[in-house]
Amino acid sequence: MTTQYLDVCDALPGEHPRPQMFREIEQNMEDWIGADSSGHDLDHARRVFNIGVRLANQKNADIDIVGAAALTHDIHRSMGEDGEYTHPRESLSAVRSVLEATSFPDEKRSSVLHCVEVHEEYEFNGDDNPAETIEARLVQDADNLDAIGAVGIARNFAFTGVIGNRLWAPDTEENSGLGHVSEKLFHLKDELNTDEAREIAEGRHQFLVEFSERLKKEWIGKL
Ligand SMILES: [Fe+2]
Ligand SMILES: [Fe+2]
Repeated sequence: MTTQYLDVCDALPGEHPRPQMFREIEQNMEDWIGADSSGHDLDHARRVFNIGVRLANQKNADIDIVGAAALTHDIHRSMGEDGEYTHPRESLSAVRSVLEATSFPDEKRSSVLHCVEVHEEYEFNGDDNPAETIEARLVQDADNLDAIGAVGIARNFAFTGVIGNRLWAPDTEENSGLGHVSEKLFHLKDELNTDEAREIAEGRHQFLVEFSERLKKEWIGKL
């Protein structure tokens, strides 16, 4: 049977009300990202949740914080007018409202907000990594892992379509789907914070490289 969202909680030690609490957060997220078709939808949030919780369990990090941040991290993607980028810090009051409407513990809320605020800073872009906690570093890792490999490719081209770019624009400086793969996605394996994430990234990165090489050959009818 395929592993579903939240099944990852079954593997965690101890009795806890987590699946119910995470369901409440997920349901509240429906209003924010339920209609997204750019690859930042609830399915992305659920995948980041699954990888994040798995990493949090391996690193003895706080599963509640990582799980809640994973589910709420991309509210900022649904906030910009006409596809304009909005920084995650602009979404923090919305994230707070989502959490306040659920049974998520009050004392852990600010730690979730920190994870959300810093999840999209990239050193290859010249940013310093402002993550101050292991939980924030794990949410970054989980989010970056969902941007590479087969899922990453699918998301990339969904995004490409939504913003109206071409699949590839080899003879111009124009932004394109395949251009984004080399400009951003190829760098993500070097942004990861943990050995556990780096191990998962190996195969995903390789797949990305093979995909890119193949697309370029098919483009000119060589394959
Ligand atoms: Fe984001
Ligand atoms: Fe994301």
